[in-house]
Amino acid sequence: MRDDRGIVTVAPSQIREAALTRFVFDDLTVDQMMGMADGLLRAGQYDLAQKLYGALQKVTEGRKADVVMRRGLASNPRRQTPIYLDLLDALKPYNGSAFVSEGLATWNKILPFFHDPRFSTLVTRHAHLLPIPNWHWNLQTIAWAARQAEHVPGDFMELGVFRGHTTLFAADYLGFADWPKTWWLYDTFEGIPEDQLDKGWEGPNKITYGGTYSFEEVRDRFEPFPNIRVVQGRVPEILAEQAPEQIAFLHMDLNNATAEIAALDALFDRISPGGVIVFDDYCWQASRIQHEAEKAWFAARGLQILPLPTGQGVFVKGAGG
Ligand SMILES: C[S@@+](CC[C@H](N)C(=O)[O-])C[C@H]1O[C@@H](n2cnc3c(N)ncnc32)[C@H](O)[C@@H]1O
Repeated sequence: MRDDRGIVTVAPSQIREAALTRFVFDDLTVDQMMGMADGLLRAGQYDLAQKLYGALQKVTEGRKADVVMRRGLASNPRRQTPIYLDLLDALKPYNGSAFVSEGLATWNKILPFFHDPRFSTLVTRHAHLLPIPNWHWNLQTIAWAARQAEHVPGDFMELGVFRGHTTLFAADYLGFADWPKTWWLYDTFEGIPEDQLDKGWEGPNKITYGGTYSFEEVRDRFEPFPNIRVVQGRVPEILAEQAPEQIAFLHMDLNNATAEIAALDALFDRISPGGVIVFDDYCWQASRIQHEAEKAWFAARGLQILPLPTGQGVFVKGAGG
């Protein structure tokens, strides 16, 4: 629509990429461009929003975190995307220290990953492999835990791989291909077995981890890492056939209590002193059954998992086991 001053107003849903390239923007401020990109995101024009945020990222060094997070929302759209955008808007006064992702908003905090260009680049590069936006805090936990376990005797494991996002990020970031260790990855590559589904968590799991992925796809993805082994099989049964004798790091991400508890029964004694377990879903509302089961499993041994606001839980094995 054109008003009497000749200004044309276009609803975001009407903007098409071809049309966008014919526009000439004169004296457009960063805020105006952000407003346009946000409008496109709210209207469900994710590709265009991503491109605009991408362009903004190059010219907004002072607002990098804000733009990167909005771009993250556009690359992994979800039902909750407008809520995340509202949160980012509300946190604007905390520019540079505000962070919003799935189930987590922080402000007035140092965001170390935004000061680590390699970390930021790799998060963006691998983001399409996980259907959740802005996983920086969670990946930071994994990178820390893996580094912590570098000189602990034993191999690395991940139970629950999906498309390989987390391990690929960490292996890339840490240069794992040169480490004298093997990283063992286990998945059915067919989703959670029907008899292991936790009540109340089936719905979110199907929405978030549905779709098609395969053993072959994930195996090929890890080809640049000769020391990463992708194993297809059901936990816990597969662990009796193929598993390392000694473990330094275990990322537990099976999204069901039955398999995770059975894995603890099978593997805990193989974890070396100083070895680290990261539970991906220790404190999400949806994973309450698993949370209670794992808390009780550790309490029975006089031990505790540290709950993190990311939803993860961390356990470091002491000298006494
Ligand atoms: C949350 S996803 C893993 C996400 C992955 N860790 C990442 O960061 O990208 C959970 C995965 O666990 C797998 N899984 C669930 N129960 C399993 C079991 N009993 N044995 C093997 N894999 C299982 C599912 O197939 C699914 O791919």
